[in-house]
Amino acid sequence: MNLGISLLPQINKITVLGSGIMGHGIAQISAMNGYDVVLRDVEEKFLDNAMNKIRWSLDKLVEKNKINKQESDKIYARIKPIVELKEALQDADLLIEAVPEDLKLKEKVYSEVDQFAQEKTIYSSNTSTLPISEISQLTSRPDRFIGLHFFNPPQLMKLVEVIPGASTDKSIVDLGLNFVKSLSKYPILCNKDVPGFIVNRIFIPLVHEAAYCLENDGKSMTQIDSAVKFKLYLPMGIFELADYTGLDVIHKATIEMYSRDKKVVNPHPRIEQLFSSGKLGKKSGEGFYSYGDKNYERVSLSEEEAKQYDPIRILSVAINNAAWLISYGVCTREDVEQALKLGMGLKKELFEIGKDNGIEKIISTLNQLQEKNGPFYAPDPYLMTISN
Ligand code: 3HC
Repeated sequence: MNLGISLLPQINKITVLGSGIMGHGIAQISAMNGYDVVLRDVEEKFLDNAMNKIRWSLDKLVEKNKINKQESDKIYARIKPIVELKEALQDADLLIEAVPEDLKLKEKVYSEVDQFAQEKTIYSSNTSTLPISEISQLTSRPDRFIGLHFFNPPQLMKLVEVIPGASTDKSIVDLGLNFVKSLSKYPILCNKDVPGFIVNRIFIPLVHEAAYCLENDGKSMTQIDSAVKFKLYLPMGIFELADYTGLDVIHKATIEMYSRDKKVVNPHPRIEQLFSSGKLGKKSGEGFYSYGDKNYERVSLSEEEAKQYDPIRILSVAINNAAWLISYGVCTREDVEQALKLGMGLKKELFEIGKDNGIEKIISTLNQLQEKNGPFYAPDPYLMTISN
C-alpha cells in the first residue's frame, strides 16, 4: 500500500536507527507506504516493545477502517527488527537515525555506522534540535546528509521538516522532499539550520512558559491546559503535550537549544526537576500528570475550566517566536501556519488567534515580561508590521 506519490526509484530499503517513540513510528509509516524497513536498536527487548507498539497502532488503524487486516499484516511483515548493526545496514538506501538527543551519543553511533554503511546509503537524522550541520560533520558524508524531522505520533502527524545542513547537496534536499511526499506526508523546508527548526522553536519554549504561568498565576494545571486547548486551539493542553512528548525529550531539547542561543527559550527549573526525578511523562507513568498503563491516555480538560484562565502570556511567547522565524528568514508565515497545523494539530491560524486577542495587547504583554525577565521576551519587529 502506498498512500502517497510512487516510491522513489533510488530508495527501496530503509534502516531506522532507534526504536523509541519516533523510531518505531517512522518505521511503521515507511512500511505503510511500501518501503522495506529494518528497525534497529541495541537490545532485543527495546525492539520487542517497539514491535508491540507498531502492532497496537496498526490494529487501531484497522479498527478505524483506515487499512484492512490483510494490509496491516503485510505492513507488519515488511519491518524487520534487527540488533546487529552490520546486518541492519546491509543494502540500506536511506538511513533514518532517531537515537536520543545527545551529540556525543550520535557521534558514537555515526562512527559505527560509517564502518558498515555502503557508499550508496544516504544519511538522515530525525533530530529535534541539534544542528544538522554539526551532526553531518561527524559522518563520512556531510554532502549526503539531511534532517528529516517527524512529529509525534509519526503515524498521525502529517508534517516533516526537511533541514539541509551547510554541506548538503541540492540533489539530497530534493530527494528528502520527495521522500517525505512518498510517505504521504507534507514536507516544509527549513531554510536555516536554527536551534529547534520551526515547530520546536515554538513548542519547547511554550512548555517552559506554561510552567511560569503555573508558578505565578494561581491556577491549576487543568485550568491552564483547558485554556490552551479551548482558547488557543491546540488539540492537547501544553502540560499534557509535554507528558506525551516525554520530559526527557523536552529537557534535552531545551539544553541543546539554550546552549546555542539564549533567545530561544527561557528555561523553567520544573522541567529539569521532573527529568532528574525520572518523571518523564506518559512513558514513565508520571510527569506533570499521573497515568495508568494504557498505550494511549488523555487528560480530561473542559471549556468550563478554560473560562477561568487567560493564556495571553503563552500566546504572546508563541507568536513572538513565530515572528522571529519569519523575520530571520527561516520560513514564510504560510509555512509557520502549515507547520503548526500539521505538526501540532493547531486548529486555527496562530496569527489569527493573535489578532483575535489583539496584537497590541500581545506586544504590551511581551514588553512587560521583558522589563521583568529580560531580553528573551523582546517583541520581534515583525509584530509591528501586523495590523489587527
Ligand atoms: N497510531 C494509531 N492510532 C493512534 C495513535 C497511533 N500512534 N495514537 C493515538 N491513536 C488513536 C487513539 O487511540 C484514538 O483512538 P480511540 O478513540 O479508539 O482511542 C484516536 O487516535 C484519536 O485520538 P484522540 O481521541 O485523542 O483524538 P485527537 O483528535 O486529539 O487526535 C492526536 C490525537 C492526533 C494525537 C492529537 O491530539 C494531536 O495532534 N496532538 C498534538 C500532537 C503534537 O503536538 N505533536 C507534536 C509534538 S512536538 C514533536 O513531536 C517534535 C519533537 O521533536 C519533540
